[in-house]
Amino acid sequence: MMDHFLYKNGLLHAENVSITEICEAIDTPFYCYSVATIERHFRVLEAALKGLKATICYAVKANSNIAVLKLLGDMGAGADVVSSGELIRALKAGIPSNKIVFSGVGKTKGEITHALKENILQINVESEVELHCVNTIAKDLNKVAQVALRINPDVDARTHEKISTGRSENKFGIEWNSIDKIINDTDRLQNIEISGLAVHIGSQLTDLSPFRDTFKKLKEFVFHLESKGAKFKRLDLGGGLGIPYNNDETPTPQEYGKVIKEILGDMKCDLIVEPGRLIVGNAGILVTKVIYYKKGDTRNFIILDAAMNDLMRPSLYDAEHEIINVIETNQNVEKNAVDIVGPVCETGDTFARQVKLPKCETGDLFAIRSAGAYGAAMSSTYNSRALIPEIMVNKSRFSTIRERIEPETYLNYEKIPDW
Ligand code: LLP
Repeated sequence: MMDHFLYKNGLLHAENVSITEICEAIDTPFYCYSVATIERHFRVLEAALKGLKATICYAVKANSNIAVLKLLGDMGAGADVVSSGELIRALKAGIPSNKIVFSGVGKTKGEITHALKENILQINVESEVELHCVNTIAKDLNKVAQVALRINPDVDARTHEKISTGRSENKFGIEWNSIDKIINDTDRLQNIEISGLAVHIGSQLTDLSPFRDTFKKLKEFVFHLESKGAKFKRLDLGGGLGIPYNNDETPTPQEYGKVIKEILGDMKCDLIVEPGRLIVGNAGILVTKVIYYKKGDTRNFIILDAAMNDLMRPSLYDAEHEIINVIETNQNVEKNAVDIVGPVCETGDTFARQVKLPKCETGDLFAIRSAGAYGAAMSSTYNSRALIPEIMVNKSRFSTIRERIEPETYLNYEKIPDW
């Protein structure tokens, strides 16, 4: 998918703003997002689903900054949330509660109460014990909870094992063969209305066939249950469509939409999709500066001021994010293999191994691409580092959408006991 991070006059820009210009005002490292790119990705998906009664409930976990949520909400997106914190964010950003679904295998009583009080569209329930818990809480609140049952379709998403969720050995969803019984038993749960079924088989899928297999299973299952008298208002298809990280090939949203239309286009019920990465992944970069260029006997290292605490994906999933110079380099200049690392005290703090780059020195700026999804949202203060700023660019303007959170600030929450 296209993004708006391009070189103009030899300088990397986010839309019409030069990254070097932002660096004059904001210390690196920082995340930088492009409004036009987020909008474009949303619109492309929306167009791919045209003709279906589908709502795009953006997966807040991918990038939960309220400025991003507001932008998407204004375009008509709903939200898929997985915690009270995300629900607070979505509502704060103005996303209407009747477009919010609540997913997750371990919702607490507090979270279920919160969701019911806010009258959200539906709670996606992942086990029988959770269903009973929702019923009890709804009864106390004198409400009828709208619930979708998340099914585990036992389909291999063929993605990284840590983000694959659709196999029966994964903790997610309700096993296929126990749904019948649960739906039967639900008649006795006065404060539950089963409004639909849900699936989500994993993230960063680069092949459409697992989606196809899942949607087919879902459809067969709906027919089977409807033949026994069940009625569903909605089917939630989850998220998971992958994006190109390092010029790799991924299915387009159009192709994804086509699969949905082919298999589920004739269903009577409404559809929900929960994309996260697809919308924001390529809409963000992590801007960072070289602290040292370190020469070694066997390897040379570029040591950046960004680290694994700012962007976990390379150390956690061996993800390969493309890393480019902010000031464009001459294509013909000599390139040498280097490892690009952060300053954190573990070898896992490595962004790239043996990539070929022109010579560089202290102060040079780099952009780690495709960092808009699961970047800032997964960051931590490991090594007592700051939580880095997030900047949003809109045409020729930029704005800080999250300030840097310094150790001095979060240290205010720590105490030495006085015993
Ligand atoms: N719906 C549910 C129920 C999910 O669990 C997820 C992601 C999504 C939707 C959105 O999936 P997406 O469209 O973004 O693939 N931190 C990992 C990704 C974890 C995904 C967790 N669930 C990473 O950086 O690759």
